[in-house]
Amino acid sequence: MKPLLQLKNVRKDIGKKTIIHDLSLEVFAGEVFGFLGPNGAGKTTTIRMIVGLMGMTSGEVLINGISIKKDFEKAIQHVGAIVENPEMYKFLTGYQNLLHYARMAKGVTKERIDEVVKLVGLEKRIHDKVKTYSLGMRQRLGLAQALLHKPSLLILDEPTNGLDPAGIREIRDYLRKLAKQEGLAVIVSSHLLSEMEMMCDRFAIIQHGRLVGIESVQELSKQAQKVLITVEPVEQALSIIKRAYSSINMKPTNQGIEVSIDYEEIPRLNAMLVSEHVKVYGIQTMTKSLEERFLEMTGGNEIA
Ligand SMILES: Nc1ncnc2c1ncn2[C@@H]1O[C@H](COP(=O)(O)OP(=O)(O)OP(=O)(O)O)[C@@H](O)[C@H]1O
Ligand SMILES: [Mg+2]
Repeated sequence: MKPLLQLKNVRKDIGKKTIIHDLSLEVFAGEVFGFLGPNGAGKTTTIRMIVGLMGMTSGEVLINGISIKKDFEKAIQHVGAIVENPEMYKFLTGYQNLLHYARMAKGVTKERIDEVVKLVGLEKRIHDKVKTYSLGMRQRLGLAQALLHKPSLLILDEPTNGLDPAGIREIRDYLRKLAKQEGLAVIVSSHLLSEMEMMCDRFAIIQHGRLVGIESVQELSKQAQKVLITVEPVEQALSIIKRAYSSINMKPTNQGIEVSIDYEEIPRLNAMLVSEHVKVYGIQTMTKSLEERFLEMTGGNEIA
């Protein structure tokens, strides 16, 4: 498969300081890809270089195979982005704002505007003035604007910043839908590991402007993990598990039983408990393994 975005040894020096060190990575159609790193790691700087808001000192960025150095106009045609706060006209309605952007882009029809408004779930409020919008509604309008010209690469710097839990979830589900159903490549940045894990297929860990590693969430979730089982009676469940897995690591807690087990073993464990008439109220995988892995990779706890 051909990558939609390629970074080749991208470097940024400001004054005597190197902000980004020879960053190379590839992002493919249909995936949500994350930039994960603590404050000041270089996420926004990298995004600014990709969309041409900042020049690079050396290296190359290819979008759909087209170099942004050689043919910026053509390369950027494929990109929709929200970097920092999108500029909106507060005294115009959401719809008027979109109309305004549609006039600047080529070939955006009224039908496309309606389609995008529906896509981001703003139908009910689109004819209200932007100054009456909540932060989440503004984020959605920003997203609608970024999507108007049907980009194949969508780049969002901290898209869930300032959103409530319901809003975060909605944006997350929506971005995943765009990637899976429309085949877009979506890039998001965040300093939250838990968010990356829920939103992304893969993510790059960036620290002090360097790429520390690239992780696939699916691979991670298949590794042995801590599982919390809520069962009754607890004692009976403990002895069943001990019998089946002699050297297993487990301990009863207030909420249930914590077990470290291979992902593939979870259904078997469940079937075993049920067949011996233990009531299973819940099996919940805990995200710790990813966090532990992260600390392992970065060799510290510098993430915010
Ligand atoms: N114009 C500039 N001049 C000097 N230093 C800069 C400039 N822009 C960014 N930096 C520095 O580059 C580093 C990376 O900044 P960047 O904004 O890319 O971080 P970030 O990963 O987006 O952080 P955050 O999570 O806080 O948004 C920081 O040390 C920052 O101080
Ligand atoms: Mg930033």
